[in-house]
Amino acid sequence: MKSNYPIKQFVDDVLNVMKETQNEKLIISSVIPLAKRAAAELDWRKEEMYIADPKLGFGSTLLHAEPDNSLFIVVDSWLPGRGVRPHDHGTWAVVVGVTGPEKNTFWKRIDDSSSEGHAELHEIEEKTISIGDVVSMRTGEIHSVVNETTETLLSFHVYGKHLNHTGRSQYDVKNNQKIPFVIETR
Ligand SMILES: [Fe+2]
Repeated sequence: MKSNYPIKQFVDDVLNVMKETQNEKLIISSVIPLAKRAAAELDWRKEEMYIADPKLGFGSTLLHAEPDNSLFIVVDSWLPGRGVRPHDHGTWAVVVGVTGPEKNTFWKRIDDSSSEGHAELHEIEEKTISIGDVVSMRTGEIHSVVNETTETLLSFHVYGKHLNHTGRSQYDVKNNQKIPFVIETR
């Protein structure tokens, strides 16, 4: 099937947005309609994208990584009843639901960041996304994801930097720990 909006075109459009402004809020608002359009296309979808690591609870398929790590696009799969614990991204993020519903919970850090490896989080908001719905996050915003359905879910993720080059963290809420977070993509 011929795509109306191939990933390559989407990448060029997002890179142009990033060339025009460094204002993160403006970048996010410009990327959202483009990401919704790209996520709705069928040409990039493959059955293998539903495969996830049962130990982690999710899987990540790379669609694009800019050579200078300035743009990173993945499709994530979420196993039934699983997800990812609170984490930040170290860059801006735009996520579009490909299937759903995918529950996102947003968290606020309430400690003073003075102790290395220690963090206390407080839950502030929930947003559940289904097909075509968007969640966006500024640098440093923290969220967790859970799939409360019985099906494996997919979502389309766009980040302003390669996630393994931002020094980002995940958070163990029970033990108030802040831990480095890297992912493997296929
Ligand atoms: Fe995330």
